[in-house]
Amino acid sequence: MTAEPSGEPVLRVRDLGTGYGDLRVVWDVSIDVWPGEMTVLLGRNGAGKTSTLRAVTGLNKAVAGSVELAGADVTRAAVHQRVRGGLGYVQEGKRVFHKQTVEQNLILGGYTRGMSRSALRAEAGSVYEVFPVLGEKRGLLAGSLSGGQQQMLAIGQALMARPKVLLLDEPSGGLAPVVMGEVMRQVARLKERGIGVLLVEQALEASVRVADHVVVLDMGRVLFSARKDEIDDLSVLREAYFGKVSGGSSDAGKSSGPT
Ligand SMILES: Nc1ncnc2c1ncn2[C@@H]1O[C@H](COP(=O)(O)OP(=O)(O)O)[C@@H](O)[C@H]1O
Ligand SMILES: [Mg+2]
Repeated sequence: MTAEPSGEPVLRVRDLGTGYGDLRVVWDVSIDVWPGEMTVLLGRNGAGKTSTLRAVTGLNKAVAGSVELAGADVTRAAVHQRVRGGLGYVQEGKRVFHKQTVEQNLILGGYTRGMSRSALRAEAGSVYEVFPVLGEKRGLLAGSLSGGQQQMLAIGQALMARPKVLLLDEPSGGLAPVVMGEVMRQVARLKERGIGVLLVEQALEASVRVADHVVVLDMGRVLFSARKDEIDDLSVLREAYFGKVSGGSSDAGKSSGPT
């Protein structure tokens, strides 16, 4: 059971709309993320998850609605202002620099997020507290890490800037199911640091296990949104998620599917 969230969400998305040129792909999306909690945004391939995240970060323009970060309206703010305001983002399929060491990757991550040189090394130490395996391997080439460890390193790069809320776009993408569970457990540890996490996933079971809130997106709209402890029966969720899948080509089959 999770306690009722106290205070205000660190990220409040209201009636968000976005698209590409004249093509609208997201309508009326509302999502809350509380400090120290995880909201999972589920949806099949093409549902509009990445487009939603990009509109939250400012990489895509919000054509409707609003984005509030730590109480401030950032709907029209530049990407770097949002980063400075505490927004972290790990893009889908994020790759680390294989020929740099783990520590060099972290330092580059902080540097590209506008951190001062003096702060970089100290901050790497706090990333090692979150992901001890990265500390153990700090001097090794990132290319020598396992897939799951490389994903942790990509998340570690975003942690360098001390985000208040972290957007993770399919961190389990391309990983074996057993590794995926491990990455989910590690991601859940970010909550202990008081970070709010917005986790985008296609895999229902593994992500809902570590979630406090669940939002299902389909065809650019919210189909389902609830606190996890209000969901008595996961089958309601599975139905919202898989209901419209009529066999065939959907990537949603990557999860265990309806039973
Ligand atoms: N750069 C782009 N230009 C035009 N359409 C895009 C672009 N990126 C995504 N789309 C379209 O937007 C819709 C939502 O895509 P996306 O947000 O990537 O979904 P998801 O992350 O849930 O798989 C899809 O129909 C996709 O084809
Ligand atoms: Mg995507």
